Amino acid sequence: MAEEKDVILDVQNLKMYFRTAKGFNKQTVKAVDDVSFSVKKGQTLGLVGESGCGKTTTGKCILRINDPTDGHIIYKGRDIAKLKKSELKENRRDIQLIFQDPYGSLNPRQNLRTILKDAIVGDHKPHSKEEISSEIDRLLTLVELSPTMADRYPHELSGGQRQRLGIARALACKPTLVVCDEPVSALDVSIQAQIINLFERLKEELGLTYIFIAHDIAVVKHIADVIAVMYLGHIVEMMDAKQIFRNPVHPYTRSLLSAVPTVDYDEERTRERIILQGEVPSPTHAPSGCPFHPRCIYAKDICSKECPALKDIGGNHSVACHFAEQFSKDK
Ligand SMILES: Nc1ncnc2c1ncn2[C@@H]1O[C@H](COP(=O)(O)OP(=O)(O)O)[C@@H](O)[C@H]1O
Ligand code: SF4
Ligand SMILES: [Mg+2]
Repeated sequence: MAEEKDVILDVQNLKMYFRTAKGFNKQTVKAVDDVSFSVKKGQTLGLVGESGCGKTTTGKCILRINDPTDGHIIYKGRDIAKLKKSELKENRRDIQLIFQDPYGSLNPRQNLRTILKDAIVGDHKPHSKEEISSEIDRLLTLVELSPTMADRYPHELSGGQRQRLGIARALACKPTLVVCDEPVSALDVSIQAQIINLFERLKEELGLTYIFIAHDIAVVKHIADVIAVMYLGHIVEMMDAKQIFRNPVHPYTRSLLSAVPTVDYDEERTRERIILQGEVPSPTHAPSGCPFHPRCIYAKDICSKECPALKDIGGNHSVACHFAEQFSKDK
């Protein structure tokens, strides 16, 4: 088992509340509400859950695009949650973000060469022309694009090629940690597999650490070592990725999994189906007690009264459900 010293990111009791106003009505959106997890060097943490559950906000707090309301974000031993922007300089390049579609963040008038050059020289170190040119070639090759494409513009690329460019631009900063926010969600299924394979190869070759965000649990299953399932700003279950199909415990995780098609006929025939009832409640009016109780087919009286804590049930597996032990296959 990995030691504490392998932990490069330790998020503790992270809260991100947004104050919004609708007319005279001031509201608080609890986008992330007391979330804790850690990521070890070289690991991939998969963060999954339906749209609006707080995945992107969690990622943005780690990058300090959002300033957290409360909690700690210990990155390489330093709490970056409360640092001033000027004190964050050394993390700027070390933690990178890859978006769903990088198009919005690419200047359409810049060709690939200029886009990558800007990322390379962003470290403010001296670079010769030759160095920059060979680094551009190296980066394009690394993401399996041809160096001959350097003179193209983003609109001349396919969705998959554009995502490769987004990855190359992030890698130009030589990051340690990469937050990948739905990086394959906008792509065709066949291209998704290619990009996921690329992420895996790069992780091995460059020793990267990922936080891989997706709404589709099937996508995360392929790439993650540990999976954290989020619901309404909370982590409701966290476990080794290998465990998720064998022993999913939280009713929400089980309902997400029951929507994933499988190719195994026997498994398909015998497996549990839990169809999610109703809509996700708004984080401005989060339910009392267990946040999942209005949609949970197993809810009992206690569920609307007391919020279950995320509890270790053994084997690197934590669940936030009053009846976790009862639902677990490992009793
Ligand atoms: N800047 C913001 N101001 C107000 N509400 C926000 C802001 N950013 C996100 N939210 C809200 O926070 C919740 C979580 O959003 P987000 O983190 O984007 O979810 P996800 O990435 O899981 O889809 C949503 O209800 C969203 O509307
Ligand atoms: S605590 Fe209750 S409502 Fe929440 S997931 Fe468990 S059984 Fe369902
Ligand atoms: Mg999102």
